[in-house]
Amino acid sequence: MRLRMKGGPYKLRWRAKEPSLALIVLVCITILIWTWDKSPTLTSTLTSKNQLQLPPDIETVAVDSKRHVKDDISTLARSEAVNNKEEHHVDKTHSTGIGKSSSDFETVPIQKKEEAIKHKHSPKREKTGVIESGSSSTEIEETNNVILGRQFSEQEEKRMEHQACDYTKGKWVIDDSRPLYSGLGCKQWLASMWACRMMQRQDFAFENLRWQPKDCELEEFEGPKFLERMQNRTLAFVGDSLGRQQFQSLMCMITAGKESPDVLDVGPEFGLVIPPGGKRPNGWAYRFPSTNTTVLYYWSSTLCDLEPLKPEDPQTEYAMHLDRPPAFLRDFLHRIDVLVLNSGHHWNRGKLRANKWIMYVGGEPNTNRKIADMGSAKNFTIHSTIKWLNSQLPEHPHLKAFYRSLSPRHFVNGDWNTGGSCNNTTPMSIGKEVLQEESSDLGAASAVRGTGIKLLDITALSQVRDEGHISRFSITSSPGVQDCLHWCLPGVPDTWNEILYALI
Ligand SMILES: *[C@@H]1O[C@H](CO)[C@@H](O)[C@H](O)[C@H]1NC(C)=O
Ligand SMILES: *[C@@H]1O[C@H](CO)[C@@H](O)[C@H](O)[C@H]1NC(C)=O
Ligand SMILES: *[C@@H]1O[C@H](CO)[C@@H](O)[C@H](O)[C@H]1NC(C)=O
Ligand SMILES: *[C@@H]1O[C@H](CO)[C@@H](O)[C@H](O)[C@H]1NC(C)=O
Repeated sequence: MRLRMKGGPYKLRWRAKEPSLALIVLVCITILIWTWDKSPTLTSTLTSKNQLQLPPDIETVAVDSKRHVKDDISTLARSEAVNNKEEHHVDKTHSTGIGKSSSDFETVPIQKKEEAIKHKHSPKREKTGVIESGSSSTEIEETNNVILGRQFSEQEEKRMEHQACDYTKGKWVIDDSRPLYSGLGCKQWLASMWACRMMQRQDFAFENLRWQPKDCELEEFEGPKFLERMQNRTLAFVGDSLGRQQFQSLMCMITAGKESPDVLDVGPEFGLVIPPGGKRPNGWAYRFPSTNTTVLYYWSSTLCDLEPLKPEDPQTEYAMHLDRPPAFLRDFLHRIDVLVLNSGHHWNRGKLRANKWIMYVGGEPNTNRKIADMGSAKNFTIHSTIKWLNSQLPEHPHLKAFYRSLSPRHFVNGDWNTGGSCNNTTPMSIGKEVLQEESSDLGAASAVRGTGIKLLDITALSQVRDEGHISRFSITSSPGVQDCLHWCLPGVPDTWNEILYALI
């Protein structure tokens, strides 16, 4: 979107200098559009320019041709058949997926105005979203007002409104146009253990909810628009199984759950291959050839660097370097344009023990008591990973980096391993509105404060969605054990992606 607008303002400014030529140019463009309405193979570049900048009568035409372009993309997508039907989605680590969280969600939201204001007017937000597109829009506005006597197009106005919006405040509303893809489809990307339509679950009211921000609209997610915006770019999720849910959700949203044989498996480009003796890769990477857009997920549940202490020993313990970002990030950051990090539910003794991870700081086993407890180790790690990432931003000017706040758990009357449950099936019965100024994930908010990393703050809005978990229908957990951590898909993580989409 933004890239495509590049040429526009200059053209218009030039027009401003030569008012007599302006008419000629306008006529030319009009003819161009008519021609191209009949020949839908023209690039989408012109479409968006004209949609944004031409007078209303021409805009109507532009909308028409837009449809052609869209059809074009999907036909192209379908025709470039490269098969990728490997079964990737059988999760063998489900047992580590449902986690007993240490102090993950005991933080009570406290109202602190300072942080709220910071969040709303964060300079980074302006830098990444508003200024880039904003500077060209201002030019458009000026020229339009002078030459064509027009205001922003409605679309552009909406877009600017999006960028300034605080998506964390709002409410859930029932919307029968949801979900964005069918839980019976999307078998290509959606793990069956998260597809609640494939389970015994019979209630699906949770699928028909949409997040309505308080003071603005959330831009409608459209796969082709997402791909255009991400042309030649790579979006990476790095985090735990909840990050993987968000990844699968996004793949389903982009394809609307339709079988997409053209999508390429580019895992090997990112070292995402099954390791010797391993059962599955540490992540997956897929490319949409029509726009050269790559979406990937890398499993790093604690955002630490992991190093086998005895590489030759299959039973080896691992140094879990709390002060080193995952090697994957160091190796591939230059290839990532949008990065979404998350961590949270793996920070507990049981998981560390099961994984044979030993905390290291400064290259030595940790001896600092202040870091040794789980909550502190997590806080220390998230702060150091974000600090490192922030230090990388100047060298990676195209990178937009997000830290996704904690996905809430909803175990009632016990924890995951002590009979805790989440049996509610009625949406919005514990609340539907979020108006608080401050994030419900204070740790995440504090880690990104003062950095160029943005908070993708989904905690509070997910907190009122206790009915959206896999609950007792889990096909991977032991009998009697409920999954009140992971979400049914389609479901709540789709909304995280809608917000992400609005921020990139
Ligand atoms: C795809 O995008 C990458 C940058 O992400 C670029 O280096 C590469 O040349 C592009 N390939 C094609 C075929 O456009
Ligand atoms: C994408 O990459 C291709 C090949 O490098 C280039 O021709 C095209 O202009 C790029 N598109 C965008 C939007 O950067
Ligand atoms: C988290 O870590 C940061 C940086 O190490 C520190 O400044 C902050 O006080 C810590 N917060 C908590 C709650 O421990
Ligand atoms: C939830 O359902 C399970 C299984 O049907 C039942 O054992 C449990 O008591 C229920 N929990 C609550 C809080 O109703």
